[in-house]
Amino acid sequence: MFWKRKAKETTLDMERIPQHIGVIMDGNGRWAKQRGLPRQMGHKRGADILEGICDYCNALGVKVLTVYAFSTENWSRPQKEIDALMDLLYDYLLQVEEKFRGRDMKLKISGDISPLSDKIKQAIAHAEEVTAPGKRMILNIALNYGGRDEIVRAARKIAKESKDGTLQPEDLTESAFSGYLDTAGLPEVDLIIRPSGEQRLSNFMLWQAAYAEFWYSDVCWPDFKNEDMERAILDFQNRNRRFGGVKE
Ligand code: FPP
Repeated sequence: MFWKRKAKETTLDMERIPQHIGVIMDGNGRWAKQRGLPRQMGHKRGADILEGICDYCNALGVKVLTVYAFSTENWSRPQKEIDALMDLLYDYLLQVEEKFRGRDMKLKISGDISPLSDKIKQAIAHAEEVTAPGKRMILNIALNYGGRDEIVRAARKIAKESKDGTLQPEDLTESAFSGYLDTAGLPEVDLIIRPSGEQRLSNFMLWQAAYAEFWYSDVCWPDFKNEDMERAILDFQNRNRRFGGVKE
């Protein structure tokens, strides 16, 4: 062995909780199929378990929890499933004020919401407004979100400002570019979790994932528990993050 590994920690270090966790809530369809249920029941259960996971992350001191709820590619699913997902999201948005009460949480929606129905757009505006005072944790729901689409939308804003003369090419640094993304102002994503056995990014936070740690699990999202989140964070804390540098 050319290097010495530190002994693995087995309890969470509360001083090193990831600030920003991203979750690809995968495996809802398989979870439902295994139980002979329609796919949308998997999504329903997936939405229901989010509440407990949010509370757990909030209690640990996670600052942002980003969840991938609907991708720019999910429009290719059967219309029945799209409608069920949109209904679920709409119901969730209507309940956000009550769900977040006493939790000091804020809701944020990332993604291109322009093609969504007026009803959903209004519910988003209302949910973001009523939860705006929340300071402890942000639940960032990625909705009609795609990492490539996000980068293209940012590039369009930049091209427009450049054309208008309000942005000089030499002022466009990495940090300035980040400010044009949906995650502007949020801390860097530290940890990306994907349950259900799949090990790919699927267009999730492509720019932001540059130095994120990845954690995969075979558990389908509807069965994901606080203990799984704890395992993911513990594993994260045992990683040696070097950000391209060298550490002893
Ligand atoms: C991927 O699993 C999951 C989705 C495309 C939707 C995720 C949405 C929710 C959990 C509910 C809505 C969220 C909120 C915040 C109310 P899949 O269907 O691709 O699973 P499979 O790979 O097993 O088919």
